[in-house]
Amino acid sequence: MMHIKLVHLLSLVAIFVQLAVVAVASNPTRGTVFSEESCRQSGVLVFYRIKLVTSWSKKLFPKHYPEFRPAPHWSMTFGQTHNDSFRLFQLEHPAPDPVGTFAETGQVAALDESLALQQDVLFDEFRLPKIRKGKGESEATFFADGKHTSVSFMTKIVPSPDWFIGLDSFNLCTRGRWLEKVTIPLHPLDAGTSSGLTFTSPKWPTNPRGLVQRITARYPLHFASSFFYPEIKHLPPIAHVTFTKIKEYDNHNNVHKKVKKLKYKQRTKLLKKLDQPSLSGEPVLLNSVGDENTSDIDCRVSAWSDWSPCSKTCGLGKRNRSRSVLQIQRLGGLDCPPLVETQWCGSARQCSVIDSYFKW
Ligand SMILES: *[C@@H]1O[C@H](CO)[C@@H](O)[C@H](O)[C@H]1NC(C)=O
Ligand SMILES: *[C@@H]1O[C@H](CO)[C@@H](O)[C@H](O)[C@H]1NC(C)=O
Ligand SMILES: *[C@@H]1O[C@H](CO)[C@@H](O)[C@H](O)[C@H]1NC(C)=O
Repeated sequence: MMHIKLVHLLSLVAIFVQLAVVAVASNPTRGTVFSEESCRQSGVLVFYRIKLVTSWSKKLFPKHYPEFRPAPHWSMTFGQTHNDSFRLFQLEHPAPDPVGTFAETGQVAALDESLALQQDVLFDEFRLPKIRKGKGESEATFFADGKHTSVSFMTKIVPSPDWFIGLDSFNLCTRGRWLEKVTIPLHPLDAGTSSGLTFTSPKWPTNPRGLVQRITARYPLHFASSFFYPEIKHLPPIAHVTFTKIKEYDNHNNVHKKVKKLKYKQRTKLLKKLDQPSLSGEPVLLNSVGDENTSDIDCRVSAWSDWSPCSKTCGLGKRNRSRSVLQIQRLGGLDCPPLVETQWCGSARQCSVIDSYFKW
């Protein structure tokens, strides 16, 4: 009995080994030279979901964990598909101004403006809603195409001086194929525009401007740094991002031109359109898909007022500036950004002896 079973088992093993050999031998990718061409063909249009899962908890990151206002949360995520001529930010390089502004304030107006000038290298812009807690998730969808296979995004860590998470030029087309599903761990980054070692440090501009750097358990090498954990080797990822391919179309040569800010419902409608067999091969204009009345409306605010006078003429004071709401958000539109901004001002050097003694 035992003996027969063993023989069966062995022959089963042999079959598996054979199958495995066949699988290896017939693997079409083996021995062929990979070219990026198959996903970079000009007619290819691909629809992806991006999901951001954050894990900023007191348990994982106990040091300086902000308990009170502002409690830990994440700004909305700004993302973009693009070709290889564009970089949103680069590690070890100075952050472009609009990226620094986003990292410091979570505001996208400056990014919007600068990207409007680079439309030829960009494809789809997408935004993930804010995550209102340290631990949470948020998602959105976006398009890439054969000419724009890279995706970049960033999310501000709030509160923080100028810290964010994000990806720079992640290529969704690798080894000739569009990635089906990929999850990437994310670590905090420092935009290098604002000094401050802790989540709630007041903001001082860094002069000269620093480089975009990854924050680690040992960098910045300073006991006061909120992420300085000398007792561990590596920080756990503070978030993960997952890209999932939802659909791939290979015959949409004429799709698009400026896919800017397609809202979720518009994207869904576009997908429906693309799925109608009668339309395949025909040009589809993404911008004409939207029906304004069903789409989300973002909050819009006025320009900043001038800075108020410094609260102290001698020594350190504060000043602020404000703006007002021009359009309140509707449906899933973006929340209004902060309406008041406060800054340190003045300096000890402005205190002269005359001020303190002789000015009666
Ligand atoms: C990106 O697109 C622009 C405009 O079409 C083009 O001039 C540039 O060569 C492209 N870059 C790459 C690396 O393909
Ligand atoms: C959209 O709203 C505008 C006014 O806000 C209205 O004139 C128009 O008829 C609406 N369109 C549709 C398709 O409902
Ligand atoms: C702005 O600053 C002025 C003067 O320092 C002060 O009176 C005012 O209350 C401040 N406003 C806000 C909203 O902080």
